Amino acid sequence: MTGKGTPLVEMKNISIAFGGIHAVDDASVDLYPGEVMALLGHNGAGKSTLIKILSGAYKRDAGSIFINGEEATINNPRDAKHYGIETIYQTLALADNVDAAANLFLGRELRTRWGTLDDVAMESETRKVMGRLNPRFQRFKDPVVRLSGGQRQSVAIARAIHFNARILIMDEPTAALGPQETAQVAELVKQLKADGIGIFLISHDIHDVFDLADRVCVMKNGQVVGTASTDDVTKDEVLGMIILGKCPVGAKPGPGALSAVA
Ligand SMILES: Nc1ncnc2c1ncn2[C@@H]1O[C@H](COP(=O)(O)OP(=O)(O)OP(=O)(O)O)[C@@H](O)[C@H]1O
Ligand SMILES: [Mg+2]
Repeated sequence: MTGKGTPLVEMKNISIAFGGIHAVDDASVDLYPGEVMALLGHNGAGKSTLIKILSGAYKRDAGSIFINGEEATINNPRDAKHYGIETIYQTLALADNVDAAANLFLGRELRTRWGTLDDVAMESETRKVMGRLNPRFQRFKDPVVRLSGGQRQSVAIARAIHFNARILIMDEPTAALGPQETAQVAELVKQLKADGIGIFLISHDIHDVFDLADRVCVMKNGQVVGTASTDDVTKDEVLGMIILGKCPVGAKPGPGALSAVA
């Protein structure tokens, strides 16, 4: 399914500078429905900055964004949500002392016709979303601070997709998790893919994401080194892209590719 039809997201020739630093420099990346696109690169490569332009947290200096083939106006997070773009930051931004349902509806609480919080409706809705996403999740009454890392991650994902996200950005989703919880997040990602959601998976560790990703896009010094299907490149080749900026034959080179300069 990858590479066919209209991309869900196309970011074209995106640039942004902070003072004199070109954090993102002429970067282009796209994403298809049901696809996991891993955004890879060393610390400071520009991954988070590029994605913050998509999520409306930063305003780009140059470039354009297309959603479902149409040019999109994204100037703030509200605009991004309007296009079905949701972001899960590394910190997850959960409210620790309340339960899963309260987190799902944080800031968008359901109310009864008397104006009081409709806890029954919120819990029932939460059970529905979780049943689809992570059927083993049962701790609906616990404050999320008592949940495991993987369970917290599923609450954050449930919150993102419940409000009709079509495009999910996950910034270093497994960085703080153990192997078992990482496997749980992988299951969640597969479920989202099956639902046709497109996912940008950001990581500085290729081992965390290579098996989950359909494609990889490697950044270095704010520039795209190259983009490739994970079927067409090896892990070692992707490491070469990350470390040396060397673009292998199986990848489409970007402006940051060493071979394009040499
Ligand atoms: N708000 C900001 N003000 C100034 N410089 C910034 C800002 N945000 C990012 N930068 C700079 O832009 C560059 C890219 O940073 P970015 O956070 O996008 O990298 P990253 O690839 O996400 O790295 P990491 O793996 O560490 O998360 C860095 O040089 C960083 O210092
Ligand atoms: Mg980052």
